[in-house]
Amino acid sequence: MQAIVHRTYGPPDLLTLEEIERPVPGDDEVLVRVHAAAASVADVHIITGTPYLIRLSPFGGLPGPRHRVPGAAMAGTVEAVGAKVTSLRPGDEVFGQATTGAFAEYLVMPAKLLAPRPTNLSFEEAALVPWGATALQGLRVAGLKAGQRLLVNGASGGVGTWTVQIAKSMGAHVTAVCSTRNVELVRSLGADEVIDYTKDDFLQGGPRFEVMMDLVGNHPLSACRSVLTQTGTYLPCSGGGGDWVGPMFRILMGLFSSLFSTRKFKTFVMTPNQEDLLFLKGLVESGQATPIVERAWPLREAAQALHHVAQGHSRGQTVLKV
Ligand SMILES: NC(=O)c1ccc[n+]([C@@H]2O[C@H](COP(=O)([O-])OP(=O)(O)OC[C@H]3O[C@@H](n4cnc5c(N)ncnc54)[C@H](OP(=O)(O)O)[C@@H]3O)[C@@H](O)[C@H]2O)c1
Repeated sequence: MQAIVHRTYGPPDLLTLEEIERPVPGDDEVLVRVHAAAASVADVHIITGTPYLIRLSPFGGLPGPRHRVPGAAMAGTVEAVGAKVTSLRPGDEVFGQATTGAFAEYLVMPAKLLAPRPTNLSFEEAALVPWGATALQGLRVAGLKAGQRLLVNGASGGVGTWTVQIAKSMGAHVTAVCSTRNVELVRSLGADEVIDYTKDDFLQGGPRFEVMMDLVGNHPLSACRSVLTQTGTYLPCSGGGGDWVGPMFRILMGLFSSLFSTRKFKTFVMTPNQEDLLFLKGLVESGQATPIVERAWPLREAAQALHHVAQGHSRGQTVLKV
């Protein structure tokens, strides 16, 4: 089968398209013929090996990448199932999020991390849905409730577009921060108010949000806290720290400083699970949320697609057609 192979940490140009052997599913696993795979910021971190801390995680490896084929979120058709899998059959159309291996024609992954493809989405769109779980889990961790005011910094990107839509489905009042070219996009996703960061500063206006989801991390922690109500919650997903620890520095600082404040600081790492996939499928099929496809690239152009994602100016999500 054809696959994108990751041999050394570095820029996406080091990835190669190769012919490798098709994987074989274990007892609880499924072999999926991949039709589309998401190319995300998380993939960029794994491929470049930065922040370096990621190399110590299950996604990384030392001295070089542990996993030969990158890629996590995907959609495709079940080709074969392991001996103990009863929930899926060959021919079923599915989507889900593996740990690795999605930038290939075939992928082996646990059956429990797959769900039926949303009936109203193409494979290319469905491959992007698993990343909606980042927004969903983040908003749950922050404890967002109907009627509360949410600020989303970085509302036009891969996670932001999901955050705006899911928060609206939860009944929140959403203020989205984005650049001029994305104002109409985030409005169309349901944002009640939009702050164009090239013209206005969301830090002006005093404490007014119960939750801030920060997908950019371009302002000091103390400044972000100043827009929260007295018991508001700040949830960072990004932010400085350089090549060694990345957002971990901000997270640790925030956890420490929240010991001395009524304002809360929460953090999370998205954990793929079938329950959230089914929840997102329901949202998508009921028209409450939809993936925003910025561009679909052929698998052989994975490096170019990842270069684009790495710039940090995505408008929705990027997908690879396999
Ligand atoms: N905790 C977790 O489990 C988890 C999971 C997934 C992702 N993440 C993290 O979440 C972060 C966001 O991911 P993503 O996939 O949404 O990134 P993305 O797709 O690259 O989107 C970033 C967005 O931020 C906007 N932006 C850039 N500068 C901005 C500024 N100064 N003010 C406001 N918006 C700005 C960009 O649009 P413009 O350039 O037009 O402004 C772009 O739309 C990343 O750091 C990622 O690592 C965390």
